[in-house]
Amino acid sequence: MNAKSNLPHIQDQYERYPFPVRLPEDEHTRLIASEIDRLAKIDHHCFGGQRDFEKSTRILVAGGGTGDALIFLAEQLRECPAEFVYLDMSSASLETARARAAVRGLENIEWIQASLLDLDAQSIGHFDYINCVGVLHHLKDPRAGLESLVSCLSPDGALGLMLYGQFGRKNVYLLQEMLNQFFGPDTELSAKVELTRQIFGDLGRMGRLEFGEGALNLLKDRRSDAYLVDTYLHGQDRAYTVTDIHELLSSCGLELAGFTNFFDDQGFTCALDYDPQVFFSDSDLLARVGSLEEPNRGQIAEILGGKTSMHAFYATRNSRAAATARDIDHAPNFVSSYGQTVADSIIELDLQSISLRLNCGIERELPIGPVARALLRGIDGRKSTRELVEIVSQGQAEIDPLQSMEAVLGHLDLLIRLGLVTLRSPDLKPFAPQHSSRPWNGAIDLRPFADL
Ligand SMILES: C[S@@+](CC[C@H](N)C(=O)[O-])C[C@H]1O[C@@H](n2cnc3c(N)ncnc32)[C@H](O)[C@@H]1O
Repeated sequence: MNAKSNLPHIQDQYERYPFPVRLPEDEHTRLIASEIDRLAKIDHHCFGGQRDFEKSTRILVAGGGTGDALIFLAEQLRECPAEFVYLDMSSASLETARARAAVRGLENIEWIQASLLDLDAQSIGHFDYINCVGVLHHLKDPRAGLESLVSCLSPDGALGLMLYGQFGRKNVYLLQEMLNQFFGPDTELSAKVELTRQIFGDLGRMGRLEFGEGALNLLKDRRSDAYLVDTYLHGQDRAYTVTDIHELLSSCGLELAGFTNFFDDQGFTCALDYDPQVFFSDSDLLARVGSLEEPNRGQIAEILGGKTSMHAFYATRNSRAAATARDIDHAPNFVSSYGQTVADSIIELDLQSISLRLNCGIERELPIGPVARALLRGIDGRKSTRELVEIVSQGQAEIDPLQSMEAVLGHLDLLIRLGLVTLRSPDLKPFAPQHSSRPWNGAIDLRPFADL
């Protein structure tokens, strides 16, 4: 690494505590879905549902850690002419990721141990998609890191990013601050780990850790030390508000192409967590928040929800690339078999309503009318929204085609923002909904996405 990198203590941390802890042999029995890296979502949000992955695709996983994103992307593109570059400054993380890829026989990967600050487009080339999850907020100058990534992004390329959320992480920062009072300037990292275990353990016994949900779980297992270090003992981290994210992106010539699902410490985020309208009932206020622009809209929702500790989102040079429910010649499809299971269950059990539970704390009962039922039955990744509207209208003598269209678009918009459905041009091969191991629990509770 050259002088620009200059992050010895952060590199040392990830050499000693590669994150997250993964065992290569586990690749024989399970595939971890990196939610932001589902091709259907990348295609929908970043390429308007028009990306042909049968043509060559170059992907960079920057700060790839122990390989979750890389492995998931490479598996999805196994039959396609895709090239991958994995980059991380930690050799221990790189070796774990490489061993996982070897177990799976994934070969089209270039392995680079370096800092992302040293990326050089002339030698490494340009990429159609860059994943950089949980990395930029650990840099001294995150903007310089993002600029470096953008320097090797192809003109219509996209980034999948995750940055810490300021309000949702306030308890983490309080605990960090408390722990720092115990440490001297020379306290060694492994000594900090031991002391943190002792402190959390005792506070837990005294019932004083209720605002540090999750911290106690880390004490059960030594494998959680990497998580403990990453969350509470990190040598460098900062957090972002929605407004900060817009500013950061715009300073690098990027726009937000959409927030997406992410499993954070509190639960599972989705785009609806960023919609202030879910918090209000007064029609005047609903109209007011409806007329606000970004980032004000998202900022209100982030503050009112207060729980999002990780913001996962896509960025492109032109946010108009995202598909919307109004692209009626696109075909809606379920992203995973979880969405398909929800739809099948609603139909088979003839449910008249289901509960919706969002990470931001909102719980709603969603009525399921005949239009929603017909739509859920019709979604198959091949029929366009226009065709679905026709099918829905046929069964509904009492509503006119325009009403059917608006009703279908409203339902689709909700399904898209939950992360259950994406849109794609019907001229392209649909993505097969990926397997979900979790049974449906009777509500649209996004937690079941966690281990698809
Ligand atoms: C919190 S981990 C996230 C790993 C992975 N992206 C994931 O989500 O599982 C952060 C990773 O970024 C790497 N990293 C931090 N700063 C970096 C830099 N300047 N260049 C390359 N990698 C870096 C660390 O070595 C570590 O593996």
